Amino acid sequence: MTQKTILRALAGETLDTPPIWMMRQAGRYLPEYRATRAQAGDFLSLCYNSELAAEVTLQPIRRYGFDASILFADILLLPQALGADLWFVTGEGPRLSTITTPDELKALKPVEAIHDTLNPIYETVKILSRELPSETTLIGFAGAPWTVATYMIAGKGTPDQGPAHALKDADKPTFEALLDLITDGTIEYLSKQIDAGAEVIKLFDSWAGSLKGDDFLNYAVKPAAKITAALKARYPDTPIIAFPRGAGEKYVGLHADIGADCIALDDGVTAPWAAAHVQTGGCVQGNLKSSHMVTGGDALVTETRAIVDAFKGGPHIFNLGHGITPDADPDNVQLMIDTVRGA
Ligand code: CP3
Repeated sequence: MTQKTILRALAGETLDTPPIWMMRQAGRYLPEYRATRAQAGDFLSLCYNSELAAEVTLQPIRRYGFDASILFADILLLPQALGADLWFVTGEGPRLSTITTPDELKALKPVEAIHDTLNPIYETVKILSRELPSETTLIGFAGAPWTVATYMIAGKGTPDQGPAHALKDADKPTFEALLDLITDGTIEYLSKQIDAGAEVIKLFDSWAGSLKGDDFLNYAVKPAAKITAALKARYPDTPIIAFPRGAGEKYVGLHADIGADCIALDDGVTAPWAAAHVQTGGCVQGNLKSSHMVTGGDALVTETRAIVDAFKGGPHIFNLGHGITPDADPDNVQLMIDTVRGA
């Protein structure tokens, strides 16, 4: 049986044309997404409405024919399932009740309880595995423990993850116990996604770049490695993509250190450097600046071709270095896809 292109790249195959998908491919830059989100009421209602969440997951597949689709959900649903309050403030982003003391940590629910909240997400995965075209790979995901912890500790997004660093320094046992709880919850959450039909898993460590020295090893690499080891023991054939955003020179060696089949790259490293130092360890994905989806034109085409060219000697999945933004022009996405497929 011919395998799906994304799975072939993740297995280490070098393809003539890299398969392509896009971080945040279901999102506010698409008018059809905005319409379905309005129908659902708000973002969280959309996440927990399996039919509509499946619908917005399928929208970019219908419009563009991406090689992979990513489950529509959010990394902050796990904290909510663990008992944190979660809401979104329009124009500002997520807000959560904070966890900074041993008592607040103790008040969270045990890992076994998360499925009560997260069942609709598994239902979305089931719908998608029925409805996706046969050539499209379904990616499930979760936040990496450090990134999820930064939101749980601060109660919101922060530019420097200051509150999480402060707790790590002031009360390491509480900080580490929170990370362990998230790690164990993530393993169970992702296992259920795979049981429901997710074919690939991606771990988003959006704030890994603020972990310096041993902290990067202890709080980005080790929790991710624990998650991949647990998933590989249960599901040896499910590939894992790790995205330690902002890792810089520390991207080197991460395939082996995390046990990931693919490392996703932000736009802070150059493609030729990453080809020489990271792709040697396995499949890579990412690197195109998301701002090209806003500005388009010759610069988009030139930069897209340069990335395809730099990674053509090894396994590569074309993607952006971070999520597409709401001000992006849907036509620029088509231009990127045409450039990759026509190159
Ligand atoms: O299409 C996809 O990529 C799948 C769905 C997805 C969303 N969030 C939907 C979403 C995925 C994979 C995520 C991951 C996520 N969520 C991350 C890691 C990746 C990254 O961007 O670094 C993080 C840090 C979050 C937390 C989060 N969710 C924030 C900080 C915000 C607000 C910022 C924003 O862009 O509005 C969200 C909201 C969110 N998650 C939206 C979407 C489509 C926008 C919500 C809306 O429709 O108003």
